Amino acid sequence: MAKARTAYVCGDCGAEYSKWQGQCTQCQAWSTLSEVRLASKAGKSAERSGFAGKGSSDAVVTALAAVSEAEELRTQIGIGELDRVLGGGLVRGSVVLVGGDPGIGKSTLLIQALAAVSDRMRTLYVTGEESLGQVASRARRLGLPLNAMQALADTGIGRILETSLESRPDVLVIDSIQTMYAQDLESAPGSVTQVRESAARLVRYAKESGCAVFLVGHVTKEGGIAGPRVLEHMVDAVLYFEGESGSRFRVLRAFKNRFGAVNELGVFAMGDRGLKEVPNPSAIFLSGNENPTPGSIVMVTREGTRPLLVEVQALVDQSPLANPRRVTLGLEQNRLAMLLAVLHKHGGIALYDQDVFVNVVGGIRVQETAADLPVLLAVLSSFRNRPLPLRTVAFGEVGLGGEIRPVPNGEERLREAIHHGFKRIIMPKANAPRKPPAGVEVIAVERLVEAIDACRDA
Ligand code: TYD
Ligand code: MG
Repeated sequence: MAKARTAYVCGDCGAEYSKWQGQCTQCQAWSTLSEVRLASKAGKSAERSGFAGKGSSDAVVTALAAVSEAEELRTQIGIGELDRVLGGGLVRGSVVLVGGDPGIGKSTLLIQALAAVSDRMRTLYVTGEESLGQVASRARRLGLPLNAMQALADTGIGRILETSLESRPDVLVIDSIQTMYAQDLESAPGSVTQVRESAARLVRYAKESGCAVFLVGHVTKEGGIAGPRVLEHMVDAVLYFEGESGSRFRVLRAFKNRFGAVNELGVFAMGDRGLKEVPNPSAIFLSGNENPTPGSIVMVTREGTRPLLVEVQALVDQSPLANPRRVTLGLEQNRLAMLLAVLHKHGGIALYDQDVFVNVVGGIRVQETAADLPVLLAVLSSFRNRPLPLRTVAFGEVGLGGEIRPVPNGEERLREAIHHGFKRIIMPKANAPRKPPAGVEVIAVERLVEAIDACRDA
């Protein structure tokens, strides 16, 4: 019997240490290290190559060309937006982590997904948070076909895997991974050790049996999956649910995907019959304000494979503080600080005594640099307290030299803006078509000052 090794693992970033320490040197978080028992080195490698040691010693080198593609068998779930985020359907034997704030709709989405495949696949929904009665009544209220769906209320990972080996589901949902525990470990349910070990066993089970596994994970205030960020490394795909509590729209984003594109978005609307797909979401993130408002501009972002119109709002106000605030919602904060420096250096506009707040409407997160130019124009518009003309759209990356850089798929963004009735488009010169389409004004800019000038007469 191999001796167990102990290690100390950071619950935030997953870094491993041989000794306990107060601060994680990797991510600088305090008091996040907890003790984890690992199988010994020898035991670990045997474990890694197979399930419960069966046939684990015969490693075979194979020519890649000889590996058939059928290994990556996909099933369309039938919920188009979910299939899209998964990269074109659910892959056999894959493990997908679905993260998001409590109450955002993780359980709802997954029970709907199970119902959608229940006519073709055996399903098992394991709940560690709600009673079977609650699960059934939700499914009934959603009008889902109950007779083809199996559920289990349990939190012991050993028993769950035994049950699964008997009933052999094709799709297994674990709601949530934080409630699961391995009976043979001493630490408490919800601890890093437990979550990590439970997930590891489920991953092994998925690979061995070919069953696709969804793990539900709660998200901490900081935005990571609670406790073990380590989970992100173990699973094949990580999907995050985003959305504002006040809005009925929900965005599912692929954060990692071994079987598809990352940053692909799926859009849903939460209604009284659960989550409904929004297959054509391009205009839902506009505030719908028909009066010109200072500090507001629409941008065309292209997260995933679709262009999306989103409204960016800025508020610039005289600051009482020695260190004025720079606050962003849905954008990266450091990027805003950088953009404000560019605005000062190359636009001659100083905001060092002003608080600057920037928000992306609808609770969506924009990660691409095409937001640079619209953010600066919104900031400027609020600072001057002068609205941009209605029906104006902007996109473009701003460089440290004050240049406006092109962004991918510029023409597609332009077409999308025109399609939604925008008449004035401020965009990078390198992206602009040589002959602008009739009826719209394309303002192609190479330098930040040109963009500022274009908004001066507003
Ligand atoms: P839920 O799926 O339980 O969230 P999670 O599993 O991520 O914690 O979603 C619960 C929320 O969704 C709750 O606030 C009520 C709302 N909801 C609806 O608006 N309509 C519905 O049909 C359902 C099932 C839930
Ligand atoms: Mg839930």
